[in-house]
Amino acid sequence: MKIVRLRANHFENPIGYDISDLNLSWVVEDTKAKKQESAQIIISKSDKFQPENIVFDSGNCKDADSRSFRPDIKMEPYTCYYWKVKVTGDNGEVAESEIATFETGKLNDPWKGIWVTPDLDNGIHPYLRKSFLIDGEIKSARVYASAAGIYEIEINGEKISDEYLLPGYSVYDCWMQYQSFDVTRYLKSGKNAIGAMLGKGWFSGRFGLGGFENTYGDRMALICELVITKEDGTKVVIASDETWKSHKGPVIESSIYDGEYYNANLEIADWSKDNCNDDSWLGVKPVELKIGPMSERLSPPIVKHETFRPKKLITSKGEIVLDFGQNMAGWVEFDVNIPQDERVIIQYGELLQNGCFYRDNLRSAKAEYKYISKGKKAHVRPHFTYYGFRFVKVEGMDVNPDDFTAYAIYSHMDEIGEIKTSDERVNRLILNAKWGQKSNFVDVPTDCPQRDERMGWTGDAQFFSGTASFFTNTAAFYNKYMRDLREEQKLIDGSVPVIIPRVRNQREVGTGHGSSAWSDVATIVPWTTYLFFGDKAMLEKHYEIMKDWVGYIIRQDEADGGKRLWQTGNHIADWLALDNPDKTDIFNGGTDQYYVATAYYYYSVRLIGDAAESLGKKEDAVYYRKLQQEIKEAFCKEYVTPNGKISVDTQTAHVLALFMDLLPETHRTRVAEALKMKLVNKGSHLDTGFVGTPYISRVLSNVGANDFAYKLLFNEDFPSWLYSVNMGATTIWERWNSVNEDGSVSSTGMNSMNHYAYGSVVEWIARDICGLNPVIDEPGFKKAFIKPQPFRYMNNASITYKSVSGTYKNGWQFVDENKIKYNFEIPFNCVAEIVLPDVKLGDVIINGERPLMIEEKDNNVVMKVEAGKIEVICKPSCDYYPYLNINSSLKDVLACEEGIAILRKYIGAQLDSFREIPELLDLSFNKPLTANPIFGPLSILKQDQIDSLAEELSKCRAKI
Ligand code: BGC
Repeated sequence: MKIVRLRANHFENPIGYDISDLNLSWVVEDTKAKKQESAQIIISKSDKFQPENIVFDSGNCKDADSRSFRPDIKMEPYTCYYWKVKVTGDNGEVAESEIATFETGKLNDPWKGIWVTPDLDNGIHPYLRKSFLIDGEIKSARVYASAAGIYEIEINGEKISDEYLLPGYSVYDCWMQYQSFDVTRYLKSGKNAIGAMLGKGWFSGRFGLGGFENTYGDRMALICELVITKEDGTKVVIASDETWKSHKGPVIESSIYDGEYYNANLEIADWSKDNCNDDSWLGVKPVELKIGPMSERLSPPIVKHETFRPKKLITSKGEIVLDFGQNMAGWVEFDVNIPQDERVIIQYGELLQNGCFYRDNLRSAKAEYKYISKGKKAHVRPHFTYYGFRFVKVEGMDVNPDDFTAYAIYSHMDEIGEIKTSDERVNRLILNAKWGQKSNFVDVPTDCPQRDERMGWTGDAQFFSGTASFFTNTAAFYNKYMRDLREEQKLIDGSVPVIIPRVRNQREVGTGHGSSAWSDVATIVPWTTYLFFGDKAMLEKHYEIMKDWVGYIIRQDEADGGKRLWQTGNHIADWLALDNPDKTDIFNGGTDQYYVATAYYYYSVRLIGDAAESLGKKEDAVYYRKLQQEIKEAFCKEYVTPNGKISVDTQTAHVLALFMDLLPETHRTRVAEALKMKLVNKGSHLDTGFVGTPYISRVLSNVGANDFAYKLLFNEDFPSWLYSVNMGATTIWERWNSVNEDGSVSSTGMNSMNHYAYGSVVEWIARDICGLNPVIDEPGFKKAFIKPQPFRYMNNASITYKSVSGTYKNGWQFVDENKIKYNFEIPFNCVAEIVLPDVKLGDVIINGERPLMIEEKDNNVVMKVEAGKIEVICKPSCDYYPYLNINSSLKDVLACEEGIAILRKYIGAQLDSFREIPELLDLSFNKPLTANPIFGPLSILKQDQIDSLAEELSKCRAKI
């Protein structure tokens, strides 16, 4: 038995994070035990755990919750706490973890440092420094710091952290995060120096819709405290104050959108070392900033991750372009050795056009790096910006690709999910979605990393939150985002903006708030986070957010007569869907905005009802459940005929009604059939936008139409997911047709190659193809609902998921003829309900662990299992071959010349026998293709032929 992944508030050994709602978690591995008999958690102020230093000892605790253990301790400032866990299994095995830590920051201790700004003209990027003497030996040292703008701190010539873009982006004017660093190893007794470089960043650089400068303030400023504890126990504090010095630095200009301009001639060697002569430096002055109270950080660190080496291209225009092979967020670093004053310009772009460098889709973002040489060899990197790119164009130097490296830079989270299928295109799609996340989780969940936007669009964030939580542990990242949300929400009476944070000086102008689906991030992200990571303390905190948002909708409804519909205001609705009858509108989908708003009204009330029940808030639960019912009734009256026809005739409208459970049971089948028909009429294609797409496949699997769901996944022509994969995409595009078939970018107004909303299909792949689902009563996968849904479009699929409760491994593969092998691994102290679809008890062979319970139910085999490995071989009653999905009689097609010609093209002379007995043709088109010998002619068709036959037939039938 081994105890691993010890986390405090989802961070590994955090220093100076806001852990006021202390939440410890750990995972037990490598054990034959099935359950935890007991666990003991000990917290001490010393790593020796002597009795006098112990601040918490749970004793042998039977119900210690490894997902979310909440010790009741009062934390002191500047204190490192050591903790460990001892677990006893139900088979007597015992293990003790290594020691983990969490360390508090300043808590309520007032700052000794003050905000200082350089005594330089506004806009000049400074060096700041302070030299100091330490007599005596150093035991430990910490830096507490933040900046208006972006800062990098060095001590004695070394950068003190591997983090970039600090302090990150938050609603600065409502709360300001500071960071804490262990800097013991950078200091020495005797002479030392600390220094900082500042950039403009999100605070005062060009940012926000329209790209304004000085959005949160017009000065770059720093606050800093270096606290040194000496061996004798005394403390020395070097705090930012008027004794610090400033000097113009080498960064001439910086902004998130435009990049950085760096003149190496302005570098001051040793600027952060004690030997730097700063006699001629100017001073600093105190500055008043319009910022909120200082707070311990919640943001996970923004660090370098993957690295890429480029291929060099010389385009027909003679441009030198480097291709890093992957679209990403981050930057390029390079080695350079050119004469003094010569300049290198690096421009960033996402794709080529006609083989040449291209970046018109970045709109006003300059996205470049300009470097002026000081005539010496140098390793060069940006400091105060980042880019969204796969390609760079290099000017001003001889380019040897070996001198260039691209770094993907994003917020660090534990990577916990790996999904694999037998189809390489689908695997690439999954990877593209993962890169969508890596590129857009840069402190804030952004819409895109490249153009003049890169903002926390709330809709995009919520659509992708399930997928993101299958890839990584998002709890801490979303928790920080929810804090931003809360601050914004307080300013607008419970409503929620469509962008968070809102750029401060655009708030008054209003970038919009209170839009359904977008603002519903306030219920969806807290709930998703709870379901996936089981952190009740977090849900408790986020509950207020959910409640205020739902309260806001209720007030809108009441102001409109209390109809239990939401039919006022402006809603973004099914953004970028393809079904707007006005084909010139390439932004808004065809689904009525108030239909979407009412559906989400219901959904948000349903989720807060779930949250209220989970948190034991009984009165609230009763209230929300009643309201939920009222909305459902009102919705059905308004939008669903008594016979179950939905009056808003779009795919998305059908998807929402089914997914959100807005229909009476009796109508579900009809609406599901109608949705299928709508797909057939589009040649088995979707036309959904941001609102419909995240749910369409899940709905289809849920109503027993896996064949349709898989078909959508495997479509390769526009609009489909694989269209972009086949076109060489390495991330998810913003639009279904961001790039046309001929390779040209479809439009430049709003067209990014790195928008993750449509990547939300991965949640369906994880939940339905691989079958792994969290459940409400034991969130964080302490219990799982596992229902894989194989289909012959692929030969196998599997997921490995390191949940907070332990690692699940689920997979299936077709073996022999019509047999499926399933593998399941359920982690220690967890249980799962497994459903094997379309199979009878007698056709199941189980190897490995015996299930606790096994039964046949509705043509499925259902098992309850506990920790362990199980292999199941079964012979399902369904062969999972694709159907043609005509789904109704083809007599009409057979009666028309065009239809006959189409059929003859595909099935040749066989058609004549079918003409005699049209029923047989119907049967052949609506049954699995291999299920019956009479399907000879059809069964020889390949999938792509079947698809195009279906499409041609549906077009023909549309004309009849
Ligand atoms: C963003 C989107 C966002 C949308 C909503 C766009 O500019 O890039 O992803 O959700 O606006 O209006």
